Amino acid sequence: MSDEGDDPADGWFPESVAAGYDGPGGANASEAVAAVVDALADLADGPVLEFAVGTGRIAAPLAARGVPVSGIELSRAMAARVAGKPGGDAVDVTIGDMTTTRVAGEFSLVYLVFNTISNVTTQDGQVDVFRNAAVHLRPGGLFLVEVGLPDLRRLPPGQDTVPFAVDPGGGYVGFDQYDVVTQEFTSNHVTVAPDGTGTFRRIPFRYAWPAEMDLMARIAGLRRKHRWADWDRSPLTADSTKHVSVWEKTN
Ligand SMILES: C[S@@+](CC[C@H](N)C(=O)[O-])C[C@H]1O[C@@H](n2cnc3c(N)ncnc32)[C@H](O)[C@@H]1O
Repeated sequence: MSDEGDDPADGWFPESVAAGYDGPGGANASEAVAAVVDALADLADGPVLEFAVGTGRIAAPLAARGVPVSGIELSRAMAARVAGKPGGDAVDVTIGDMTTTRVAGEFSLVYLVFNTISNVTTQDGQVDVFRNAAVHLRPGGLFLVEVGLPDLRRLPPGQDTVPFAVDPGGGYVGFDQYDVVTQEFTSNHVTVAPDGTGTFRRIPFRYAWPAEMDLMARIAGLRRKHRWADWDRSPLTADSTKHVSVWEKTN
């Protein structure tokens, strides 16, 4: 479902989505952003590059802390919002695909947050993300990924759907639908307005286990350095719902 003014080249994040992306609360809450920015600032030791920089939710406040930040972003509609944020005018954004796009410079840290590696829906494409991160890193540089773990433990045999928000009174139902053979899944968002009109957004993703990402990293010449359950650097457990992993360029 897209609006008339949307540019198909902007993928799943066209103008109609970008316009509402920076709303209050959730991932935009100041504590949530500060936790990410603090951890990234600790890991950075020179210029950094954000893959899929979006509207600069993280890149702009990181740049405001004095870290030189570049970004790669597919959607012009999302990227157009970066410069308007405090610190954002210092972020150097290149429009392109993070699987292939090269930017000038050597970086101490490349990071890819907020589940966005899952937007690349093939294993080959995800390996290309790791390879492209490695190309941009100086020796000893770090690649960080933040991504949710698939909710497969909530799937009994014969079932492929996990609801994550059911609020019919509020006019919203959200559910993920998994294909455990291909590791593809869709996130489905059904919204019904008070007048009864509705929208159905179905967004494709691919999940990869942390161990699969370690192999992708090895293919790209990276070795795992950290694996956390969250930005507080707590250890990953069987009940973790996401991971924040960091790999180091070995040469
Ligand atoms: C969930 S948003 C995250 C944006 C930002 N990193 C943040 O944390 O707010 C995902 C972003 O990834 C971008 N994106 C998706 N696939 C991409 C790709 N292959 N190359 C570059 N950007 C991509 C989308 O356009 C969107 O702006």
